[in-house]
Amino acid sequence: MRFEAFNRRAARQRADCLVIGVFERGELGPIAAAVNGALRGRLAALLSRGDFSGRAQETLLLPEVTGLAAGRLLLVGLGPRAQFSRRVWRKGLQAAVGALARTRIASAALALERPGGRELPDYYLGRATAEGVGAALYRINDLKSARRPRPPALSLVRLGPIEPDSLAAVRAGLSDGAALAESAALLRDLANLPANVCTPRYLAARARELARAHRRRLRVRILDEAAIRRQRMGCLLAVTRGSEEPPRFIVLEYRGARRGQAPVVLVGKGVTFDTGGISLKDPQAMDEMKFDMCGAATVLAALDYSARAALRLNVVGLVPACENMPDGRAIKPGDIVTSASGQTVEILNTDAEGRLILSDALTYARRYHPAALVDFATLTGACVVALGHHYSAVLGNDAPLQSELVQAGERTEDWAWQLPLSEDYTEQLRSNFADVANVAGRDGGAITAAAFLGKFTGGLAWAHLDIAGTAWTSGKDKGATGRPLSLVADFLSRRARG
Ligand code: BES
Ligand code: MN
Ligand code: ZN
Repeated sequence: MRFEAFNRRAARQRADCLVIGVFERGELGPIAAAVNGALRGRLAALLSRGDFSGRAQETLLLPEVTGLAAGRLLLVGLGPRAQFSRRVWRKGLQAAVGALARTRIASAALALERPGGRELPDYYLGRATAEGVGAALYRINDLKSARRPRPPALSLVRLGPIEPDSLAAVRAGLSDGAALAESAALLRDLANLPANVCTPRYLAARARELARAHRRRLRVRILDEAAIRRQRMGCLLAVTRGSEEPPRFIVLEYRGARRGQAPVVLVGKGVTFDTGGISLKDPQAMDEMKFDMCGAATVLAALDYSARAALRLNVVGLVPACENMPDGRAIKPGDIVTSASGQTVEILNTDAEGRLILSDALTYARRYHPAALVDFATLTGACVVALGHHYSAVLGNDAPLQSELVQAGERTEDWAWQLPLSEDYTEQLRSNFADVANVAGRDGGAITAAAFLGKFTGGLAWAHLDIAGTAWTSGKDKGATGRPLSLVADFLSRRARG
């Protein structure tokens, strides 16, 4: 997909199709009004006949129009003018691209009205456009045996009209957004795969492939079970014990800045299937536990994005990957193991496995002396109870880092909200038999899970994103959402710009 920004009047822009937005009650914004002029009032006439209501996300394709440089005109409803916002704009864009994808249109000039300048500054207008087009064109990499439907023909999107002063920033946004769209598709593809395909070894192979694709800047190291043992990662080994699939520990190093610059280290939970182990889960929706590697997919995609966008930043990705299975050899409630940090852990619930494998990865991260350490995990059902499906949870030990992440979520509409974390929660993890227990009861479960992780961060500036409610959708639209890659990409891009 190619993205360009244009400056000339919308009616003059060449493309297979011009896309404009129309408010309810026939109200025309400045772009639609200019197009109406070029059409000698025929747009207003169509609206007053009631052929198009302007309701949010309604679309109407007019295949033959005269007076425009484009061959067709697509109308998109933007709802009531007074309620126009960035959110309505984004949904309008998605509806428009959805409509274009059902045609053989190959090039589109996107000229939706623009929400208030401060809501969507130039860079983010470009970024959200490319990201939104990519998301709307994404198709699940399904394993259906019927012949695949033809992919959408759309291959060139021109965004405008853009004021000359804004062109550079919009173009920078389009370029980062295009990289983001590619990386988001990678994330979603990995996450949507079934667990019998997407195993720890498969994730490692895909990481290798990424390093090959970005040979100059991205390096990979894969630890197999023996190497994991040499690192004394007793918690990761404990979780993987019940599985026939061997574990992997994936290390990706992106070098975009000078060697001495402290990296941002990203850690992602890579449980390729979570049955709960001996603390077996309820069968209800257990298939969705194939998504328990969305943190890992986020990290692989974030490294892919860093390389595609050529960020001037050092970034390290760490992925502990394994399955959580019940078996004669599996860990049992009450078992005590020694983590890579040397702390002993009493495993009271084998279904609290994510924090176990992450603890060893957080310990591994210390050798990089990171400027910031951020982990991503579908960690707790309690997080879904607390925040539902619209906000990821942010916790950690460093207020500026946490607000940096919350603000990145705000700018990208990939929302995140901070939950508290204090010693009082950490104390709940006390064990009579080991240094720490892996669970602390039901109440405040998202927080006590983070408190457990906090025991392994060794004084580094650290933040944790619990993405259990945001990483995938259930029900008839079941599938990975691509979140929180947009937030992470913005966080990294900002750090890269200093
Ligand atoms: N992967 C799950 C968390 C999860 C559950 C995410 C449902 C999304 C939907 C995690 O490994 C888990 O099982 N957590 C337990 C922790 C509990 C045993 C303290 C949970 O949330 O029930
Ligand atoms: Mn679990
Ligand atoms: Zn899990």
